[in-house]
Amino acid sequence: MAKKPKIIIIGANGMLGQALLKRFKKDNKYEILAWDRNEIDIGDEKSVNKKIFAESPFIIINSAAHNAVDQIEEDEENYALAKKINGDGPKYLAIAAKKSGSILIHYVSDYIFDGEKDSYLETDVPRPISRYGETKLAGEENVKKNLQKYYLIRTSKLFGAPAKSEKAKKSFFASMIGLAQTNKTLAVVDEELSCFTYVDDLAQATRKLIEKKFPFGIYHLVNEGAETWYSALKKIFSFTGLTAIEILPVPASNFPRPAKRPCRSILKNSKFPKLRNWEDAARDWLENK
Ligand SMILES: NC(=O)c1ccc[n+]([C@@H]2O[C@H](COP(=O)([O-])OP(=O)(O)OC[C@H]3O[C@@H](n4cnc5c(N)ncnc54)[C@H](OP(=O)(O)O)[C@@H]3O)[C@@H](O)[C@H]2O)c1
Repeated sequence: MAKKPKIIIIGANGMLGQALLKRFKKDNKYEILAWDRNEIDIGDEKSVNKKIFAESPFIIINSAAHNAVDQIEEDEENYALAKKINGDGPKYLAIAAKKSGSILIHYVSDYIFDGEKDSYLETDVPRPISRYGETKLAGEENVKKNLQKYYLIRTSKLFGAPAKSEKAKKSFFASMIGLAQTNKTLAVVDEELSCFTYVDDLAQATRKLIEKKFPFGIYHLVNEGAETWYSALKKIFSFTGLTAIEILPVPASNFPRPAKRPCRSILKNSKFPKLRNWEDAARDWLENK
């Protein structure tokens, strides 16, 4: 029997990692290795080389990252960690992928853009306005510099089943649905227009990218439709029947946070079939969660 192509999913306990695992395991077509912190530290070159060279996979999918946007901004230790995990990690993975002949898939964030344009194409020049964005951009550049066989997938505002790992932060929707159980009113920022994206749809698109042999390069993979935090939450609450709770739109200045966010960071997908509208994706998630 022919050997199945081997795929390593890194960050497999995370929100996206879990969805990737589910999507790629589905039909038993691949040999899947699901790794998280206990199996590999992507910020440590030796750990990366030892683990990747032992397997020489067909594809490495890296969904591991340090995503604590505000802690990275205000705390030097967190910033150093983000530089290692978000910046150096993808470099080590790209170099190891090149040596073992693997394809690398790596995820990047809309926070690499400054928010001054209405929307951003794959070819627009990034200009991060936070340390988190800066470290994610460093990761992207390190992959481009060290490998040809890569897919860099930029995405934004993920939602879906929660991460298995304890440290991972909850998605915005999950946190707000939780708060709605004990609050009558919620003030929510009516700014930062961007695209909410369902991790299951992103995992499905990732698989399609590989199986339909799309050209290597940068992709913007998000569900269609742009929302602020407030406008999206209003819809989520109406889908879930949480209509008794009052949601108040407020400016971002009501919640001062250490890291700046782009005021608009709509990722335009011009290279891949459009993902479905985010509302349909959200209804699916809510029905199946
Ligand atoms: N979440 C969003 O809204 C969003 C938006 C745009 C882009 N993205 C990007 O999408 C990707 C997936 O995000 P996500 O929200 O699914 O992340 P997540 O839930 O935080 O999961 C990340 C996983 O990576 C693990 N990890 C962290 N450092 C590691 C290391 N050094 N070595 C190995 N594993 C490590 C984490 O373990 P611990 O929990 O133990 O640290 C966690 O299980 C990331 O690249 C992220 O930057 C996310």
